[in-house]
Amino acid sequence: MIIALNHKSNLEKEEYLKYLEDFSTIKTNHHLIVCPSFINLGQSNPDKIHLGSQNVSTYNSGAHTGEISVQQLKSYQVEYTIVGHSERRQEQKESLKEIHQKIIQLQKYDITPILCIGETKKEREEGKVEEILEKELLSATEGLTKEQKEKMIIAYEPIWSIGTGLIPSNKDIKKTISFIKKILPNTKVLYGGSVTEENIDIIKTISIIDGYLLGGLSLKIEKLKMLLKKLD
Ligand code: PGA
Repeated sequence: MIIALNHKSNLEKEEYLKYLEDFSTIKTNHHLIVCPSFINLGQSNPDKIHLGSQNVSTYNSGAHTGEISVQQLKSYQVEYTIVGHSERRQEQKESLKEIHQKIIQLQKYDITPILCIGETKKEREEGKVEEILEKELLSATEGLTKEQKEKMIIAYEPIWSIGTGLIPSNKDIKKTISFIKKILPNTKVLYGGSVTEENIDIIKTISIIDGYLLGGLSLKIEKLKMLLKKLD
């Protein structure tokens, strides 16, 4: 399974170095992707871990103060990039157009986009889950070839589930992931949102899930080890 670890804006310098030390004690056959904040990314050894970034600029390298270009990510051997996380869509007002541009940039440099999609609580209550996800998916993948679509990873993350401890029922997750796979038949789909070493027992029975995107849990190595053990 693919397990993407989204550190968000956590871990100061020394904490991250300690994290890497502890991380090196994990033994698993699952494909772990560490997505540290940009400032920690350069301290990671890409020969030892699969590295992901949490964002990329829509611009190429050049005069764009404060931006991190895809060329720079490539030079640090970044293999994956999270795109369109709901926190960025909300806090940075990241648009569908920007998300699409980022995916195009990444594909050019052979970095795998991990595209986050998901509905708000209100959208769910209004019965708009599929409508929202379809819009996000079609916009993000516009103009991509079949191979490019298959190379992406989709992370289905209900926005109301992120960091809240609330999770959709297995029936709902299965229905939604099946819907995503109908639009993108051979693309891997992860589930993200409040996954823990405890509730994994229930979620892991959904066989069509290809992996998980972990936020809070990604920072706790011992709990992460417990979760990985349950997935073996
Ligand atoms: P969470 O975050 O696991 O803390 O809910 C998931 C995410 O935002 O990717």
